Amino acid sequence: MSRQVKIGAVGCGVVASAYYFPFLMDHPEADLVAVCDLDEQRVKDCQRLFGAREGYTDYFEMLEKADIEAVWILTGPGTHKLFSIAAAKAGKHILLQKPMATTKADADAIQAAVKEAGVKCLVEPSQQSPLQRPFPKLRSLVKDGALGDPYWFSFIWTGPDHDNGGLGHNPYGAAAFLNKESGGMLYDYAYGPSQIVSMFGACKSVMAMSALQMPSRQIVPESDYTDYLAKATDPWDANYWDAVVKAPKTDACTMEAPDTYNILYEMHSGWIGMFHVGRPFHPIPKGVRSGAMEVFGTEGNIYFDPRPGIMATVYSTKQDMLENPDENGWMDIGKEGDLSKGKWPKPTPGGFNYYHESSRLMCDAILNDTPILIDEDWGAHINEMLTGAQESAETGKKYMMKTTVDW
Ligand SMILES: NC(=O)c1ccc[n+]([C@@H]2O[C@H](COP(=O)([O-])OP(=O)(O)OC[C@H]3O[C@@H](n4cnc5c(N)ncnc54)[C@H](O)[C@@H]3O)[C@@H](O)[C@H]2O)c1
Repeated sequence: MSRQVKIGAVGCGVVASAYYFPFLMDHPEADLVAVCDLDEQRVKDCQRLFGAREGYTDYFEMLEKADIEAVWILTGPGTHKLFSIAAAKAGKHILLQKPMATTKADADAIQAAVKEAGVKCLVEPSQQSPLQRPFPKLRSLVKDGALGDPYWFSFIWTGPDHDNGGLGHNPYGAAAFLNKESGGMLYDYAYGPSQIVSMFGACKSVMAMSALQMPSRQIVPESDYTDYLAKATDPWDANYWDAVVKAPKTDACTMEAPDTYNILYEMHSGWIGMFHVGRPFHPIPKGVRSGAMEVFGTEGNIYFDPRPGIMATVYSTKQDMLENPDENGWMDIGKEGDLSKGKWPKPTPGGFNYYHESSRLMCDAILNDTPILIDEDWGAHINEMLTGAQESAETGKKYMMKTTVDW
């Protein structure tokens, strides 16, 4: 067999069991050597379901004892600095779930540790990054002037509205963006800055206002997930989301950080636009868009489009810059399929499975010593667009970005 990357994963939570572990279990370039979680039951069940040979409840013990060359850090944001720096110091490559950190100082420390150790680092999300194929195409259209001069953009992100039923907040786990340590809802949405940079290039400044509108919340008990995992028998169908959105929310929980943000981003390319973070509490009518990006230039527009299989639709007065526009001058840009080509129990038609794609990319980069576009520098820039928004909201002042990316 060709060489496999020896992986230890920390965090046997929802994202790990629903997305990463089934892929790692099957991927020919991956060997899921060890899994780790504070919750021993979750460790045992992930070993049973996904075939990891070793189980740990102490991350540092896993780093020391397991024969691994890379870690997949799939825990909540409060652990990311400690876990990433320890991994880098131990010479392990790192795949780090978003958000990179909840302060710029922590992101800086991770970036420095990775550079000093010379290990590879991928900072999620690869979704809504240049690695999702439509974005380089959209970036070229914007950069090459299909929209003319910059006018404005808006990106209202209210989702996910699971099955159109509304959600309000993550239905489980206070660590998932309700407690103070998690930084609040803003830090769930690295996808927003990532898409904005993917479309318009590096960010120059940030202004924001935030609010805590609904401090009292109800969530699904944490133990429900452990019970769900213990009963799961099909590793390809251990996706808790289907169960959790319908489960009764019986635990009272206090939202300790802001739950809505209205942010203005100024980009070096001249584009200025707004990004809204918040979540709907009630169903959205079928067929009505629940938040997407709209871009308006002096010569054209881009709409992210809710039609199946379509990512975005573009209009330009410079029709020769569009490929096969329709009779009204619009060009549709399709979604890319699941590039990982792995088994997937419930494929989203045309969906991009970012967890699979990032894992595949990380293994390739380690085995072939190739660079990673969404590395610690990209991650630090995207993350600063979050921490900068928080700082601006707290101080009432414009925040000037210190990091940049060449994209
Ligand atoms: N759930 C999703 O669909 C989803 C999607 C995209 C990204 N993410 C990201 O993934 C991360 C985890 O989210 P989740 O939804 O899986 O959360 P989760 O609460 O379901 O899982 C986190 C797990 O980490 C474990 N953990 C916490 N501290 C630990 C420690 N010190 N040592 C070992 N284990 C520890 C917890 O016991 C838990 O099992 C977050 O940063 C989130 O942004 C989640």
